[in-house]
Amino acid sequence: MGHNKHIERESKAATKVYDNRSLQIDYRTLKPIIKEGMSVLDIGCGTGAISKDMASIVGPSGKVTAIDNTQKIIESGQKSYKEFKNLQLIHSDLFDFETDEKFDLITAARVLQWLSNPKDALLKMKSLLKPNGIISILDYDHTNLEWTPAPPESMQSFYNTFLKWRADAGMNNGIANDLPALMQEVGLTNIETINSDELYTKDRSDFESKVGIWSKVAGLTQLVDEGYIEEDKRLQVIEEYDTWVKTDAISMTMKLNEVRGSFQ
Ligand SMILES: C[S@@+](CC[C@H](N)C(=O)[O-])C[C@H]1O[C@@H](n2cnc3c(N)ncnc32)[C@H](O)[C@@H]1O
Repeated sequence: MGHNKHIERESKAATKVYDNRSLQIDYRTLKPIIKEGMSVLDIGCGTGAISKDMASIVGPSGKVTAIDNTQKIIESGQKSYKEFKNLQLIHSDLFDFETDEKFDLITAARVLQWLSNPKDALLKMKSLLKPNGIISILDYDHTNLEWTPAPPESMQSFYNTFLKWRADAGMNNGIANDLPALMQEVGLTNIETINSDELYTKDRSDFESKVGIWSKVAGLTQLVDEGYIEEDKRLQVIEEYDTWVKTDAISMTMKLNEVRGSFQ
């Protein structure tokens, strides 16, 4: 398979994961503070599945601007959610995003985990905030993921390799725990940490798709391309983990925090 085909397949898989997300389930702690009439900027929105739920709440007197730097994913969202007239999906990197507008609420869900400069991202967000506006970041502590029972050895080893690959690239595997200090450093106040752990148990209809996220991560060829894992080992991880999800798996807990701050 050629390189472009790989990228296409991987972006389709990511599109599916992001389209399945909702404000109610995947950013549940934020919902109570979104109000009619608000202007919201959602950074790293993926396809905009969560952003379109925000757009429904702010209503026609408000608006949601949602940006993402992956073109294929944002284009998919522009098609899927075009009936949401108060939702604007824009292909842009956060650091290149320019606007004269300021926002009441700026959100970034599962995005800062991918950045080697999360503090710069917070500074950029602060520059786009209205006085008394709120910044809300939802992110992971990947160092404390819990699987019950333990998954196959091949996945445990892959997961450790994945964390090492991330750390080597300058990403913070425990960003959820460091966000309050980072927000303080950039001068935000009223900083609040709200536990947003995601517990997936077998009785949930989305159990296999949510727990299967690690199979999708192992589906990415980047770790092979960069010499972190052999291709046959990667395929073994997927096969054994998929079987485990269907048979032995009982639950998985992803550790997340929503951390909020405001700027006077
Ligand atoms: C894990 S996805 C999260 C999508 C969505 N927020 C959610 O929670 O379902 C992270 C997204 O952030 C985007 N992203 C990463 N770095 C970015 C940057 N510097 N500027 C804009 N988007 C970025 C990626 O393209 C990806 O779609």
